[in-house]
Amino acid sequence: MSNKTLIFAHRGSAGTYPENTMAAFSAAFNEGVDGIELDVQLTKDDIPVIIHDEMVDRTTNGSGWVKDFTYQELESLDAGSWFDPSFEGASIPTLEQFFDFYSQTSLVINVELKSGVVRYPGIEKIVLELINKYKIRDRVIVSSFNHYSLVEMKQLDPEIETAILFMEGLYEPWNYAKGIGAEGLHCYLPVAVPELLVGAAKAGMPVRPFVVNEEQHITNLIKAGCDAIMTDWPERAIQIRESLLI
Ligand code: G3P
Ligand code: MG
Repeated sequence: MSNKTLIFAHRGSAGTYPENTMAAFSAAFNEGVDGIELDVQLTKDDIPVIIHDEMVDRTTNGSGWVKDFTYQELESLDAGSWFDPSFEGASIPTLEQFFDFYSQTSLVINVELKSGVVRYPGIEKIVLELINKYKIRDRVIVSSFNHYSLVEMKQLDPEIETAILFMEGLYEPWNYAKGIGAEGLHCYLPVAVPELLVGAAKAGMPVRPFVVNEEQHITNLIKAGCDAIMTDWPERAIQIRESLLI
């Protein structure tokens, strides 16, 4: 538990900007977030790119699997218009483009490896090399629903911070997380129950639920001393936190 709940922008400020674009990240940064969560998949030519789905259909004007596009092919897709025509021309960022800018800030960066549906062999090493290239290992948290990916990350670099993602009401998940060398619990909001928050705090393990958008949920978790929340509406969460600190 924490005195001050950190606010992480989920896929950037995804409530008001097209998710996982530089526009969404830049909005989050300007709103004063503490951290940014983003999703990483690999192109055909092994470039880590920031996009939530394994397929480009929902968030671009293209169609097909990310893994079947080279980066050059992916780059020309429009990742903004689906959200609002005013964002026409926004592209799918590479992880390197993101690091290039955000390594110059002090934000916490939560890299979610989307290696659960498509395995993307080698994604852990590729991402780790970029983290080291940009010298941001002290403020990166690597998370994944694929816990084999987290174990692989730890085997490559025992010092890199990892967190398990999970949706279910697991019993004492901090024990399981410790067992695979992870340092944090990134749980689906409905399972962030008092037993989990209190137990994890006693075990010294941070909890960062997703996706916390409703005012009441934001308020409750901040009052409970939750370490961080991930939200599509960071500006709202920051305002609520400020009002509660008075
Ligand atoms: O990392 C937290 C959250 O983003 C996990 O779910 O589907 O939004 O990537 P999803
Ligand atoms: Mg995510």
